[in-house]
Amino acid sequence: MKYDIKDAKLANKGKLRMEWAMEYMPVLKMIMNRFKKEKPLKGTRVACCLHVTTETANLMLALKAGGANVTLCASNPLSTQDDVAASLVKDYNIPVYAIKGENEKTYYQHINKLLDLKPQITMDDGADLVSAIHMKRRDLAAGVLGGSEETTTGVIRLRSLEKSGKLLFPMIAVNDADTKHLFDNRYGTGQSTIDGILRATNILMAGSKFVVCGYGWCGRGVAMRARGMGAIVYICETDPLRGLEAVMDGYEVLPIKEAAKIADVIVTLTGDTGVIRGEHFKLMKNGAIIANSGHFNVEIDIPALEQLSSKKRRIREFVDEYALKNGKKIYLLGEGRLVNLAAAEGHPASVMDMSFADQALSAEFVKKNASDLRKKVYDVPKEIDKEVARLKLKTMGIRIDTLTEEQKKYLESWEIGT
Ligand code: ADE
Repeated sequence: MKYDIKDAKLANKGKLRMEWAMEYMPVLKMIMNRFKKEKPLKGTRVACCLHVTTETANLMLALKAGGANVTLCASNPLSTQDDVAASLVKDYNIPVYAIKGENEKTYYQHINKLLDLKPQITMDDGADLVSAIHMKRRDLAAGVLGGSEETTTGVIRLRSLEKSGKLLFPMIAVNDADTKHLFDNRYGTGQSTIDGILRATNILMAGSKFVVCGYGWCGRGVAMRARGMGAIVYICETDPLRGLEAVMDGYEVLPIKEAAKIADVIVTLTGDTGVIRGEHFKLMKNGAIIANSGHFNVEIDIPALEQLSSKKRRIREFVDEYALKNGKKIYLLGEGRLVNLAAAEGHPASVMDMSFADQALSAEFVKKNASDLRKKVYDVPKEIDKEVARLKLKTMGIRIDTLTEEQKKYLESWEIGT
């Protein structure tokens, strides 16, 4: 079996951590047990470009239990957990191509290794696998039944591909499932982003001036958790609705040029490029901490930061100190890559449980319905979304009410008024 990982000797540690995570993934476990019996993915080549974490590893085990020939590469050069990659290879015979800190050339070589195996189903977090097929390996497209996409940024890329009429196979927007973005993006990113910032810096949140750029589901989650720890939270937005929502959620909303002057910590989660630029670095206080938790490392203009600096040194793991020519120091976390995965372990397993249940069931859906699907971006079927929510509640031991016949009828009727 071919693979490329950092160190096979790390496998023991990775295996134990995967088992720990699995305890918090009961929905995925139920799906895995059913997959073991039914083998819905029997003989299917499934290529996954995801963050190589304990939670992803458990998804790989579920897909393999379903009969898939699964391979995994990283969806970000800095998010790989090397012990997990080692365990997947050594303990579970799953080929992995991922090394934490790999350079961009290796990152794309690893993607190509997966593509060489001619995938029938793709699973992406950020759309790099699908984008590589569309840009460089178009010959493979005819063999792809369909794919799924985990994150907002990836879905945006896919919708743009679809709009231009160039999408070559069906895709499922897992991110857009309610059981994904309402929980993973909000509570997962909310907690893991703060976790990454704290592991990297060990700063005190209470009383800190904490600026969140972007008030989508991820930004909402981070703002909520930062406030919960006593930070004074400010929001920067470009969308009037979201700006208004942030105001009525009780945050101070202001332009980034003003926020840059007061921030102790400033975090980007917009999915767009050039959010914090040279003009903003110049305004920052001495000691300001900058981090990104959006998918790509384009939100902070690092080349501009380098240009404004006379010196740079790594002062702690995942913290680069930039000495600006104006005499101030600015700290960049995790090289501007997603701080929750670069400096911490990503979202907790119990929230990834739902996201990856959606992924596993979407792969099964693609396999089952391939002949009916067109070259479109599809939502996760409502039945899957509802089933994942139902199972999650069940595994949490929480019961909810059911509508009476009278209530159902009332909701369906237009005649009954005052
Ligand atoms: N994205 C964010 N957190 C993650 C995790 N723990 N595993 C995989 N992908 C993630």
